[in-house]
Amino acid sequence: MKSIVKKTILKVKPYIPGKPIEEVKRELGVSDVIKLASNENPYGPSPKVLKAIQRASRELNRYPDGDCYYLRQALAKKLKVSSNQLIFGNGSDELIILAVRAFAGPGDEVIIAKPSFMIYDIASRVEGATVKAIPLKGFRYDLAAMKKAVTKKTRIIFLGNPDNPSGMYLTKKEVTGFLKGLSNKVLVFFDEAYFEYVKARDYADTIGLLRAHKNIIVTRTFSKIYGLAGLRIGYGIGNAELIGLLNRIREPFNVNSLAQAAAMAVLKDQAYYRNLATRIAGQRQFLYRSFCGLGLKFIKTHTNFILLDVAKDASEVSRALLRKGVIVRDMTVWGLEGFIRVTIGTPKENQRFIKSLKEIL
Ligand SMILES: Cc1ncc(COP(=O)(O)O)c(C=O)c1O
Repeated sequence: MKSIVKKTILKVKPYIPGKPIEEVKRELGVSDVIKLASNENPYGPSPKVLKAIQRASRELNRYPDGDCYYLRQALAKKLKVSSNQLIFGNGSDELIILAVRAFAGPGDEVIIAKPSFMIYDIASRVEGATVKAIPLKGFRYDLAAMKKAVTKKTRIIFLGNPDNPSGMYLTKKEVTGFLKGLSNKVLVFFDEAYFEYVKARDYADTIGLLRAHKNIIVTRTFSKIYGLAGLRIGYGIGNAELIGLLNRIREPFNVNSLAQAAAMAVLKDQAYYRNLATRIAGQRQFLYRSFCGLGLKFIKTHTNFILLDVAKDASEVSRALLRKGVIVRDMTVWGLEGFIRVTIGTPKENQRFIKSLKEIL
């Protein structure tokens, strides 16, 4: 089949997700497994959201609302944008894929940071675009180098804000400086999957920039702080014309009805999630203190995950943690030798992770 498949597909390396808990139990025969590998919310959806899902499940015989009408109205009101400035996706992953499909193909260039979220690279290669990956500088985006890399062939620049795996965010000043003088023929894609965790005052308000910049799209997700990773729902915000273009290639029923009902309930239960963000921030401090106690270096984060320098072979450390029933992400494959990425869990999970790490090191 390789001889007849599209040539672009042969250049794609499959995405390797964090190992599911059940798989580790099966493979290693460990009964008590914790997963700190995919930046999920460790507490799950709020009780009100669970109730909304249950209610919506009675109508699973029906197709979902392809327009996400009620969610669209509610979110437009919350974000103070028009309803035609929103697009919903089967996770924000889908919106990354749709944007690349719409704007980049063979002969075009896509600029990303190295390392950053792998779907930017995979989606671009699938479409046959050339990926220019600009190395991070001190674990931050090298925006000057990224801007310098722009040519007439550049179609999209992906900016994870905050970024995965570094956990860094872009300031208002950095973003406005970056956009200044940049051709409006380049789509600037702000991926804000971890938006709700950022507390920094100088964090860029990208939605506020939409009026002046028609070439911006901002995506966010219900998978991270809102604990709906399993239901798959994310959204994009942009100029109505841009959103309309993406809408043309969207699968008509891409967002399932349980996800829509759950997302609506999330919007009505914001106090629950604000409290959750505070708890995660508290645990972030616990982990920082523990790493210092172990003499380990780490990258300060504005998200619910931390890059940790284990000062050893990270693959070995990750495997040893796995044998103890703790799943983390080995960053070797992302080109960060000696690093693991750990998601901030519940206090009990974090204590178990630190205890296991101590034993291994
Ligand atoms: C930076 C970033 N963007 C997007 C996503 C995709 O999230 P989802 O497709 O679940 O909305 C993730 C998930 O790991 C991520 O880390």
